[in-house]
Amino acid sequence: MAQAQRFRALLDLCKRRGFLFQSAEIHGGLRGAYDYGPLGVELKKNIAQSWWRRNVYFRDNVVGIDTSIVTPHNVLKASGHVDEFTDALVDCLLTKERFRPDKAPPINFKQDKGQSSGKISIHSPDKETAKLWEQKIQNELAPGAVVTRQGKEVLLHVKEMTTTTYGKQSGSIVLETTSGSNLTIPYHGYAEPATNSPFLTDERPFNLMFKTFLDPIDPIDRVIKTTIENNTSDARTIRDQVDNVLRPSTVYLRPETAQGVFINFNQVMRTMKTKLPFGIAQMGKSFRNEIRLEHAIFRTPEFEQLELEYFTAPWESSAWFQYWQKDRLAWWLEHANNKGDIRTRNHEADEMAHYAKGCMDVEYKFPWGWGEVEGVANRGNYDLTQHMKATGENFEVLEDKPDVSSHLKETALVTSVPQEPTRFVPTVIESSCGLNRALLAFLCDAFQQVQEPGKESRTVLKLHPRFAPVKCAIMPLTGNAEFQPYVEKVARSLRRQGLYTVIEAQKLRIGKRYYRHDEIGTPFCITVDHQTLEDQTVTIRDRDTAEQHRIPITDVSSIINEKIWGDEAPELD
Ligand code: GAP
Repeated sequence: MAQAQRFRALLDLCKRRGFLFQSAEIHGGLRGAYDYGPLGVELKKNIAQSWWRRNVYFRDNVVGIDTSIVTPHNVLKASGHVDEFTDALVDCLLTKERFRPDKAPPINFKQDKGQSSGKISIHSPDKETAKLWEQKIQNELAPGAVVTRQGKEVLLHVKEMTTTTYGKQSGSIVLETTSGSNLTIPYHGYAEPATNSPFLTDERPFNLMFKTFLDPIDPIDRVIKTTIENNTSDARTIRDQVDNVLRPSTVYLRPETAQGVFINFNQVMRTMKTKLPFGIAQMGKSFRNEIRLEHAIFRTPEFEQLELEYFTAPWESSAWFQYWQKDRLAWWLEHANNKGDIRTRNHEADEMAHYAKGCMDVEYKFPWGWGEVEGVANRGNYDLTQHMKATGENFEVLEDKPDVSSHLKETALVTSVPQEPTRFVPTVIESSCGLNRALLAFLCDAFQQVQEPGKESRTVLKLHPRFAPVKCAIMPLTGNAEFQPYVEKVARSLRRQGLYTVIEAQKLRIGKRYYRHDEIGTPFCITVDHQTLEDQTVTIRDRDTAEQHRIPITDVSSIINEKIWGDEAPELD
């Protein structure tokens, strides 16, 4: 099956079996908004809990926090997000599409053989639109340009073109005109991605944060009043006045969970008596007004992050940066079937966030290509220092006898350790995993079409047992009432362990019931049959091998627990 077709089949399964629904579908839906159904919510919770177990419960020096989503202007001004958390944005003057130029493809220019001239073909959705676009180019965007049509394609006749790549020196496109004179339009190394249109606005920065106002008075009323009172037609002046009036009530939906951790640094140090190195973990929703929403839940305005801010002494920061890169990659690899579909990539200096000194992405090979699922960054002491400057709070730590953490003793990356008592602002090593992207990646990784001879192809979702929404399905072989007490006994023993267990008593053939559970990733099925009545044993069926074994009822919960958790235990190095 082609990758795109496989992805569509996966999304179809997600909808059909209750993992993922388009939000507000009965009202026409909302682009980029998704609701997680009964199985999706379990899968998401299991991934998050695996992360929390691994990063908080298995460690002596990491604690959790849960901070407010609604964040005051001052916090995000200090952190640099108000001024720097921007993407470049371009509008297409022809199609009105809005896109990120750094992600857009170069223009497709078909040169005539051996000539500098050629054609740029703009792809319209239909012939009617092609006609309208032809007129718009000739009348407004490039008056006098020679434009022809071939079905849905609108063709620009180009005399010559100087190419360039994005971010480099600008190029230009010289168009043929009906008068024979030259008509030049700028070329910045990209075209509108869907149509190959070169008619674009200049780039402008676009802040990704959702701004709102904590104010009993409708902010629009304040905007109107301020505009009327200022009695000027200068847009910049009006904008400044309106911003000033609204500033006291301006808040943002947080764009990352991390800032809530930084501003609580002293509170956590004080209440938990923590000592460096230590971490503060937070999981929760973040919000970004993304220019382009893509690939179902891959890029959405509302998403969840699993973030760990690990505070270290500066001389240990490089060693811990390396440690967390390895540790996070190990978690990904441990839970994936296809290890080759996970890789890491170091950021180039020019793609790093405004706060980062170093960054490595964990990437997954999605059906459309490699995509970031987690970032591990060395944030230096940027954030703590910025909040200190803005508030006067002191986040310095005093080390009386500077030393090296025990398991870093052999690490060459530890830099010179001070010999006398030292006061410093800790360095932050951050790991930031997108929960929704993790869910999508693990679903893609697990989705398998099985073709058995003489049978219809069917789906098996080979999710890691720790992630599988339903851990065990218990099935009475038939409707025989004598099976019921055994079914309930096994279900109770598993449910007491906190394992999501369902009883499948439908009148479907047992094989059909197994297949329905393979499709949603249930790793184990237990069948109660006639032999159970005689010797108190049941069969346990494994999703991945389809093998069945007889085991005593009293062993079911310990065997399933062992199979799910195995030897999960953190290795510090
Ligand atoms: N605190 C650091 C930080 O937020 P980031 O690389 O911007 O770093 C971390 O985001 C992770 O959050 C990404 O690797 C991705 O998995 C997830 N993420 C970011 N934007 C997202 C969006 N619009 N939709 C879904 N997930 C997103």
